[in-house]
Amino acid sequence: MNRTAKTLRSTIGAKALMAVTGVALLLFVLGHMVGNLQVFGGRDMLNKYAHTLQSLGPLLWVIRGALLAILLLHVWAALQVTRANRAARPVAYEHARQDLATSYAARTMLVSGVVVVLFLIYHVLHFTVGAVDFAGSYGGHADLDGTEVHDVYGMVIGGFKHLPTALIYVVANLILVMHIAHGAASLLQTLGFRSQANAGKVRAFGLGFGVLIGIGNLAMPLSIMFGMVGD
Ligand code: HEM
Repeated sequence: MNRTAKTLRSTIGAKALMAVTGVALLLFVLGHMVGNLQVFGGRDMLNKYAHTLQSLGPLLWVIRGALLAILLLHVWAALQVTRANRAARPVAYEHARQDLATSYAARTMLVSGVVVVLFLIYHVLHFTVGAVDFAGSYGGHADLDGTEVHDVYGMVIGGFKHLPTALIYVVANLILVMHIAHGAASLLQTLGFRSQANAGKVRAFGLGFGVLIGIGNLAMPLSIMFGMVGD
């Protein structure tokens, strides 16, 4: 097999890996959003949900490990594809913005991806570990049907009442929307669901999915920031 064919094959493999891991990550983000929306149901509802997850014990660590592995594979595949694309075009376009067919989101996938990963590191250190907590709202306890549990509700409300913290979440989730809008459409193409006839629908699906996640994830910091939710 000559070099070009080899590169093409490994690029197709990496794109497929990016698409499959992308589906898993999208499902996680959707499920996570639906779970978190329980903040609108009040303290007991969110704390019960969080406590149920915490009570999964070893299974929770299996899920965490699988998620981390999927994320790392997604990032690794993205780097492979980027490197192969650059190798295929060693001389940069003279007019880089001539590729009008490529959307702004597509051209910035790598940058938005890096921002999402940086946000994720901050987010886990904030809400899961409590090591980076500008709002000082981590670590409280609440009563749930006679059991003392981690007050995740108080942590989220207190976190988003702190303006800089809320703004970090708002900006990061807007960038996530961009990443998802292009990523969801792109993975459908990679998995062979896009044709000339349905290209518009595929793009609309990506955008719709991104906007759905955006609405859910932005509703939380924004409504808390503006005092519409919380005590
Ligand atoms: C406004 C949006 C978000 C809110 C309110 C939120 C809320 C939370 C909360 C409360 C926890 C800790 C749960 C606990 O300790 O029981 C958590 C953990 C986590 N979140 Fe989010 N999240 C948001 C957005 C995101 C996004 C966009 C992602 C992924 C791109 C994400 C990924 C994670 C991960 C990986 C964990 C760690 C799960 C674990 O191992 O315990 N979150 N989130």
